[in-house]
Formats: sequence, structure tokens, C-alpha cells
Amino acid sequence: MNQPVMQGLNLNLPSYVQHPRLIAWVAEIAALTGAASVYWCDGSTEEYQRLCEQLVRAGTFKKLNPELRPGSFLANSDPSDVARVEDRTFICTPQKEDAGPTNNWMAPAEMRTLLQTGDNALFKGSMRGRTLYVVPFSMGPLGSPIAHIGVELSDSPYVAVNMRLMTRMGRAVLDVLGSDGEFVPCVHTVGAPLQPGQADVPWPCNKTKYIVHYPETREIWSYGSGYGGNALLGKKCFALRIASTMGRQAAEGPSGSPGWLAEHMLVLGVENPQGKKYHVAAAFPSACGKTNFAMLIPPKAFAGWKVTTIGDDIAWIKPGADGRLYAINPEAGYFGVAPGTNAHTNPNCMASLERDVIFTNVALTDDGDVWWEGMTDTPPAHCIDWQGKDWTPAIAKETGAKAAHPNARFTVAATNNPALDANWDNPAGVPLDAFIFGGRRSTTVPLVTEARDWTEGVYMAATMGSETTAAAAGQQGVVRRDPFAMLPFMGYNMSDYFQHWLDLGAKLAASGATLPKIYCVNWFRKGDDGKFVWPGYGENMRVLKWMLDRIEGTGGGEEHVFGVTPNYGDLNWAGLDFSAAQFDTVTRIDAAEWHAEMKLHDELFTQLAHHLPAALPAVKARIAQRLQKEVG
Ligand code: GTP
Ligand code: SPV
Ligand code: MN
Repeated sequence: MNQPVMQGLNLNLPSYVQHPRLIAWVAEIAALTGAASVYWCDGSTEEYQRLCEQLVRAGTFKKLNPELRPGSFLANSDPSDVARVEDRTFICTPQKEDAGPTNNWMAPAEMRTLLQTGDNALFKGSMRGRTLYVVPFSMGPLGSPIAHIGVELSDSPYVAVNMRLMTRMGRAVLDVLGSDGEFVPCVHTVGAPLQPGQADVPWPCNKTKYIVHYPETREIWSYGSGYGGNALLGKKCFALRIASTMGRQAAEGPSGSPGWLAEHMLVLGVENPQGKKYHVAAAFPSACGKTNFAMLIPPKAFAGWKVTTIGDDIAWIKPGADGRLYAINPEAGYFGVAPGTNAHTNPNCMASLERDVIFTNVALTDDGDVWWEGMTDTPPAHCIDWQGKDWTPAIAKETGAKAAHPNARFTVAATNNPALDANWDNPAGVPLDAFIFGGRRSTTVPLVTEARDWTEGVYMAATMGSETTAAAAGQQGVVRRDPFAMLPFMGYNMSDYFQHWLDLGAKLAASGATLPKIYCVNWFRKGDDGKFVWPGYGENMRVLKWMLDRIEGTGGGEEHVFGVTPNYGDLNWAGLDFSAAQFDTVTRIDAAEWHAEMKLHDELFTQLAHHLPAALPAVKARIAQRLQKEVG
């Protein structure tokens, strides 16, 4: 990069910044965006508090009652900016087929014209009147060999304070980066420049949105949104879309390395009463139960069992020298779904939220605390809803208005979690004993199925379907294929990704390693009354225990078309009133439903035909044959 023209802008460069390439890039982006000033985040507590106070003065934050919710704030977003925008998310590889049929694609040169270089390029002047915050962050423990560094340049102080909770952020990152360390450049603007004298709004954003990734050059450019995964670029953009391509590239070339995996997975530790500890990674689509499963408290009957959280959303998984797979959580905080969270279903989460939290789009109670649907049995008599309007149970009944947006979120540091695993930031990671894949399906898919081998597990994960949720803009409750819960987060061709999983398994198996077992779960089957039949949450421990029994070779089960499932008697029912008939409702395999389901697998494989590993249609053919013969 050439030393850019500074155009008279003071970069406010702290003396500890010693990285010429970083400095040149910041100057270049400041010039492109016309930012009014530049501020380098040091990540200190003092800075965090100062920026939060500034956000209060700007009207973005409301300070919550310090007696009830110390150190905590509430932000209400613009009603048009409430979730990830999948249709505005692009993977800009030189070849379209490298992005694959499941991603939006544009040629890099065309996208760069649109965003950076064209006459009306969106980033030109996009930060006018605003401060450009330089946010250096590490995904993974600071300075560890498995961590990767990014620098986000954002005109949103809301992003800066959220990044401090979600990542290891600040000066220490630049110290690790030194004078020529590698970093992923992430540029973010809300796309709302201010004219001289123009008053700001509490949540600036733009109707036009672009969430853009250039995997070749490992760059991220995000325009127009201030919300969640659209704007906190370390999370889905870096730790999944860019990192997934890094993990696959590591497997290419002559090194023979199997590469690694970047997955939309929680990671938990589970210890039995004898003190033996297991680790499980689970991929559920957005708003399908990862945070809850990662913080699970076992039912009373499981005295002596303990579940601890390594991560709640993203896992980076690498083979260790012993051939086992080790997982780390690249994040340092949780950006979790508020609605539905309560002291009964997730006490660990509620305890995590007692202090030092940023809430977004929940309701404000009259005593200056927060509330959301499902938090308490009895709603408050009055509150201010997420759009700043009066809300009462009567209004809700009449208009259907929600106090909190269904995708309302909390941002909180992992260290707030009372169930945090002792190894949560161990750079070596934790060895995995099982993978779980699970969608939100009101019908068809049984409570739990064990894959007979790695390939069958990859097939289950690849063909997984799930009902869409409020985590993404668009229609909700529609079943779509969501392979590996990665549909919105894949940085390259989905079929190549399936192949990467198959190759990784084959290489590890060839080295004599025991691969993690693979399971498919569904907590969300509904009865004729439209209600969930399975009690879920802490009771999911019963299913987890069965998996561990299977790993130990002691768990019962029955082999059938799709894999191995427990019989009623194979689960521990102590302390839960759940009948064999109810169990049948959540495990039954209905022939008609499954014939329809297999057609959807067909459609997926047709869509993904280019580079689809032959092993997957082969598994499908075997299953289809057995389905015909055994189920009818
Ligand atoms: P993202 O952060 O979007 O990736 O979501 P997530 O996968 O972490 O989902 P989360 O645990 O936040 O749960 C989303 C919603 O599903 C919440 O409203 C939960 O209350 C609900 N939920 C979680 N686990 C269960 C379960 O076992 N059963 C039922 N019925 N609902 C659940
Ligand atoms: C998800 O949608 O899977 C999330 C929330 O975890 S966001 O960070 O907005 O992607
Ligand atoms: Mn997620």
C-alpha cells in the first residue's frame, strides 16, 4: 500500500501504534469515508465507560437503574435494522462457483466499484461528520498461535463498546500485532453521513445495506446496518465466513495438513458424578438453542452432573497432535437472544445478565429495568416497548404488539457466566467427544438420532432443515435446508465444505484416531395442540446423557433407516413425568413425512450438484431404499 495523502486529517495516532501498513490503511479509509476524526480504542474500562456515557448523551443508550441492573444500558435500534440481512450478504470470490449456489455473489471488481471506487461509491464520504473508531480485536486468546487478529474501522460507537464485550479488544492486540503482524481489515459504516450542523438520530443506519466479504484478500466491508452480525464484524463475517475459507485453505497444498473448521457451534463441557469430563460441540441454526444448551443446568435427578460453557455460538476446531479434534471459542462474550430467556429455563443466563450488560431492543420497565416476552409469567403492568411506545398487556392483547423485538439481544462478557468452563480460553482448546446437529422442526425429525459413521453424520448435517427465525430479516417459520447450521455463514462453496468435512474425517481416521460421534437432535416437535411436546432446556440433559452412554458403549438403542435412536427405556426419566406416548410423539418416524423430506434432500443435492461429494448421494440412496422397504 502506498503512503496515502492524509488530506489534513489528524489520525490521532497513539505512540504505541507501530504498524506502518495498519496506519496507512486507517489513513486511506479515513480519507475515503471523509471521517471527521479518528479515535483508536485502547480497550480500557475507562474508555468503555466514557463511550457508554457518550452513547447515553447521544440518545442511543438509556442507562438502566443501577440498583436493579448495575453498569447496564438499553439501546433501541431503528425499526428497519433489527437482524442480519442475508439477502444483502455477499461472498465476492473471483469465480462465482467458488462462492457456490447458496451465497449471493458479485465479482470483486464490480463490488469494489460499487463500494469504494465508482463515482457514487457508497463508502465515499459515508462517515462525514462522524468519528472513525479503530477497533483492534483478537478472535481467540490474545497472542495464542490459534488466534487471528482483525481491525474493525467503524463509525459506530455502539459497535466499539459491543466489540469490547464480544472480543479481546484494544491496545494489547496492537502490541501482539507489532510492526508487521497480519490482520483482517474490516470496514464498517452505518452509511449515514452528517452535514455540518445536522442533528444525529439515536440509531443511524441506511436503507441500503451491503455485508461484503472478499475471501481472497480476507477483507470485510459492511455498509448501512448497525445491528449484530451485520456490524460486529468479528463474529459471523470474520469468525465464520472468512475463517471457514482459512480453515479449508490450510488443507490445500502439499503440506498434507487436514486443515481446520470454523463452525456455528456452541461448545460445552459435561462432567459425570465420577469426575469424567466430556466435550460436545453442537450446531443449531440461529435462535435454535445454542446459548441455552451451552448453559444447561441438569435436572435434580442428575445430581453430580455438571455442564460448563466453553462457547455459545462459534467454534474453531483443529486436529491435535494426538489426532483428536480440539475446539476453541474465538469469542469473549455472548450476543444472545433475550425473548424466552428466564430464571426457570436458563438460570445461568439470567445470572450472567445481572450487571454490565448492553441490551438491544428489549422493553424498558417503569423502574428502569428491562423486560421481554417470556422473562416472567406475569408481564409488567406497563413498560416502554422496543420502539419507544407505551406497552401494556391490554395493548398487547388488542394489537399483538411485542414489548421486545423477537430478535432482541443482550451483549455480555463471557466472564459474567457462572457456568464458564475453566478451559474456556485455554489456547489448546478442548478435545471433542461428539458433534450434535439440530434444527427447529415442528414435525418429521425425531428427538435424537446417532449416525452410524462419520459419512452418515456428514449427510445428516448436510441435509438438516430448520424453520426460519427472527435472527434474520425475512419470513419466519418456513422450513429451509440449513446445512451444518451454516447456510448464512459459509465463506465458500457449500459442496466443497462437505468435501472438507469428509476429507478431514478420513485423514484423522487414517491416522488411527477415534472420531467424535455425530448426532442429530430436534427439541422442537409440536403436538396437535401446537405446543412443544419435549420440555427442552435443562431436560435436554437426558438426551445428552444418552449420547455419553453411547460413547461409553453402555447406551441402549435401536438401529433403523436413519441411524440409531433410543427406546423409551434407554433414557433416564427420573424426576420427569414424560410418558411413552409422549416419547412416541417426539420420536415417531412418519412414512409420508419422510418421503416428502427425502424430496427436499433431493432438491438440495440438485442445487449443490457442482462438486457435491459422491459419498452423500450414496448415503441418500441407501436410506431411500431402506425407507421404502422398512417404513413403506
Ligand atoms: P443465535 O444466537 O441466534 O445463534 O441463537 P441460539 O442458537 O444461541 O439460540 P438460543 O439459545 O438463544 O435460543 C433461541 C430461542 O429458542 C429462545 O427463545 C429460547 O428460549 C428457545 N429455546 C432454546 N432452547 C430450547 C429448548 O430446548 N426448547 C424450546 N422449546 N425452546 C428453546
Ligand atoms: C445469529 O444470527 O446466529 C446470531 C446473531 O448469533 S448475529 O450476531 O446477529 O449473527
Ligand atoms: Mn448464532
